[in-house]
Amino acid sequence: MTFRILIVDDEQPIRQTLSFTLRRQNYDVDQASNRREALERLETNNYDLILLDMRLNGDSGMDLLRYIKKTYPQSEVMMITAFGTVATAVEAMKLGACDYITKPFNRDELLHRVKNVLRTKQLESEVKVLRQEFEEKYGLDNIVGRSKELMKVLALVRKVAPTDTTVLITGETGTGKDLIARAIHALSRRSERPFVSINCAAFPEHLLESELFGYVKGAFTGAINNRKGLLQEADGGTFFFDEIGSMPLPLQTKLLRVIEDKMVRRLGENKPTHVDVRIIAATNNDLYEAVRAQQFREDLFYRLNVVNIHMPPLRARRADIPELANYFLNKYARRDGREGLEFSQEVLALLINYDFPGNVRELAHIVEHAVTVCPGPLIRPEDLPQRFRERSAASQPVPLMPQRSRRQQLEEEERRLIIQAIKASSTIREAAEALGMSRATLWRRMKKYGLSKRLFVE
Ligand SMILES: Nc1ncnc2c1ncn2[C@@H]1O[C@H](COP(=O)(O)OP(=O)(O)OP(=O)(O)O)[C@@H](O)[C@H]1O
Ligand SMILES: [Mg+2]
Repeated sequence: MTFRILIVDDEQPIRQTLSFTLRRQNYDVDQASNRREALERLETNNYDLILLDMRLNGDSGMDLLRYIKKTYPQSEVMMITAFGTVATAVEAMKLGACDYITKPFNRDELLHRVKNVLRTKQLESEVKVLRQEFEEKYGLDNIVGRSKELMKVLALVRKVAPTDTTVLITGETGTGKDLIARAIHALSRRSERPFVSINCAAFPEHLLESELFGYVKGAFTGAINNRKGLLQEADGGTFFFDEIGSMPLPLQTKLLRVIEDKMVRRLGENKPTHVDVRIIAATNNDLYEAVRAQQFREDLFYRLNVVNIHMPPLRARRADIPELANYFLNKYARRDGREGLEFSQEVLALLINYDFPGNVRELAHIVEHAVTVCPGPLIRPEDLPQRFRERSAASQPVPLMPQRSRRQQLEEEERRLIIQAIKASSTIREAAEALGMSRATLWRRMKKYGLSKRLFVE
């Protein structure tokens, strides 16, 4: 990883010396001679370190320091002070500067300090990455279901996530494409950097373009400020193009260039800037068809479709339905303070046989509806939305509800007993004793059955 450094100093010879010295160490160095130039640079680049002169030809370096720490907190700032103004330098450190150097510089000392700051910064981010390993699991833990179709998808996610490969996620609406895109980011080396997404169907062409690429003041009527584009906001991270099929053709051409050259140019600006983003795109329509109809650029299609992850519709992985239904049941029941709600066997059978044109999202809505309207502890068919009942009656029951195995029956019984014990106890220890199991076992079972420890708090 190359670190990026910005030198802000009004004296040209100083900028030159610093820049020369730092470049020799393979740092990526930019310069600014005043506040305005510094702000322009900051708007379009992410710097790891800013070397900031305390006195900037009329402007106060202190004010700029305050502004930078507020607006770009991830950048470290090291003050450059003239000999004898050390007291102010200390003041600057209180405002968030990480260190200071005094003019005239000693080359070795300068390099030593810069290296130190950047090393600490890197270590901090490595620690974060370790912490991330926890959340990493989260990335996939959020995704409910154990069908072999879903397991195949998740195996592919694990495989592509750590690479920088472009991924195209396909699948019907509500199948979980968004979740998959986020999981890929969470499991990648980029997880500490931003995940930025845009829904290409939600913007008219010109807005989509200015959102993506940003603009400079005066680029078009209404561009009253400079603005960084979203692609640049995602620098170092992942960019998710949702509903990529809706991207207008002229923008497709520009996107292709971004992918090929890794450069973006703000509207109204001539000079492009380098961006480092991993691209994930999703679509719920058939891009092959769009390519054939000349609505989607073929070259862009192949650029995006390096790895294709296809989310099968819910009706093609019915094994996930009971677990998902229970997951949403717990979620909404907890939200409404109605823990312990259960589906009747008939409801489960209806759900398993239904076709779910809206996939997981539709299932979630159906369950939410049922939780809201159902009067007792058991969800019955009449608690399901009218529309669902009509459609499910019309659709052919595909595979019949499998006979519940002995093991399933036992598990259901166990879950019921656990809920009962929890309700009758105020601590986990009490509940575990009542059930004759260790606390650890009870935790495990609660986790298995999707029961929240918050059950105790209420
Ligand atoms: N396997 C799953 N486990 C838990 N929640 C899921 C799962 N799949 C989908 N969901 C939930 O269902 C809803 C729809 O999922 P998501 O937004 O990812 O679908 P999508 O494929 O992006 O849909 P669209 O094409 O309409 O944008 C979300 O609330 C999501 O959290
Ligand atoms: Mg989506």
